[in-house]
This record gives sequence, C-alpha cells and structure tokens, in this order.
Amino acid sequence: MVEARTDVGFCLWFTGLSGSGKSTIANVAVDELRRRGHKVELLDGDEVRENLSKGLGFNKADRDINIRRIGWVARVLARNGVVAVTAAISPYRSIRDEMRDHIDNFIEVYVDTPIEVCETRDVKGLYRKARSGEIPEFTGVSDPYEPPLDPEVRVVTHDRPIAASVAQVLGYLEEVGLTPPGPAPRPKPAEARA
Ligand code: ADX
Repeated sequence: MVEARTDVGFCLWFTGLSGSGKSTIANVAVDELRRRGHKVELLDGDEVRENLSKGLGFNKADRDINIRRIGWVARVLARNGVVAVTAAISPYRSIRDEMRDHIDNFIEVYVDTPIEVCETRDVKGLYRKARSGEIPEFTGVSDPYEPPLDPEVRVVTHDRPIAASVAQVLGYLEEVGLTPPGPAPRPKPAEARA
C-alpha cells in the first residue's frame, strides 16, 4: 500500500450502457471522495449534453466530439489536483484510449451491466422507444457499444448493492495510492460494549 494524499488529481472514467448504473455509482463515489478530503467534479453525461455539448447528436462524429470535450475538461481538472469523475456512455474504445493517453492518472471503470438488465430497468423509457425505432442509433440496440478490454475496475451491478460497486472503486484507488484508506467500519453497539 502506497502513502496516499488527497491533492493529487486523477480521472475516474465510467463507461457503460444507458441505464447501467454509471451515474448512480459515480454520485456515491463522489460523495465518499469529498468526505475523504478530495476536490471532486462530476461530469455527468446527461448534464454535459444539456450544457457543454448542447445540440450534439448521437452519430459517431458527435459522440466523439462530446467525449473529447469531456476529456479536455477532465484533463484540466486532473492536472490541477482535482478528481474528475465522468459518466458518459463513451461507447467507442479508440476514443476512450485516446483519453487515457491524454489524461494523467486515468482510471477506466467499466459498469458491466447486461443490456437485458438495462432494458428491463428502462429508467428513462428510452429502450422501448429505441426498439420501436422511435430513437435511432441507440447504444446497444441499433448502435455499437465496445466494452473495455482491460479496464482498471470492472463492476457488476445487477446482483449486488450499489455500495459494493462503490467499495470496489474506492478499494482500487486505495491500492494504487490515489486515496487514503477509508475509516475503519464502526463497531456495532453490542461489539462496542464487549
Ligand atoms: S455518449 O455516447 O456521447 O457518451 P452520453 O452519455 O453523452 O452518450 O448520453 C447518453 C444519454 O443520452 C443516455 O443515457 C440517454 O439518456 C440519452 N440518449 C438519447 N439518445 C441516445 C442514443 N441514440 N444512444 C444512447 N443514448 C441516448
């Protein structure tokens, strides 16, 4: 275990299908990293598309522009000691690898939720629309998703609580010395009395 500081920037790059759980896990990880003393900024896919990438579509060229914009912001943040957490589908392997080459301490987190599970959840009702053809070029249905071949962290969400996935991400960061170990679990009252 390496001595960890909280002023070294890094990038947690979440990737996975729509509805895979990227934003949910990212949000809890962000809270925990802040609690540990890091400066953290979350660049969530939907929020970026409402602001920085407003007007872009979902063909490959537009997705690439979107990812390069997110990557540029993440890079600037990370080199200034901030933890940049991104949560966009980022379906193309080559552009994720391009981000890896450009950003210091790039950590790819693959949220590996099968499409059947994402589709059953269908939180935003988009899979149904994609299947009926109402939404074209929908990732996993009518557009590609290229899973990472060697991500730093791969989380599985469909058969375990969110906290387990977050613990996995934080555990990796502790292992490589990017965050100090979290507090020891609090003893339950009965144990405390013993
Ligand atoms: S990315 O491919 O450029 O990384 P991004 O994460 O920003 O995608 O946006 C994905 C979100 O946009 C999805 O979660 C979904 O809510 C919405 N969306 C709308 N159209 C599509 C589409 N054709 N493919 C994927 N997601 C879409």
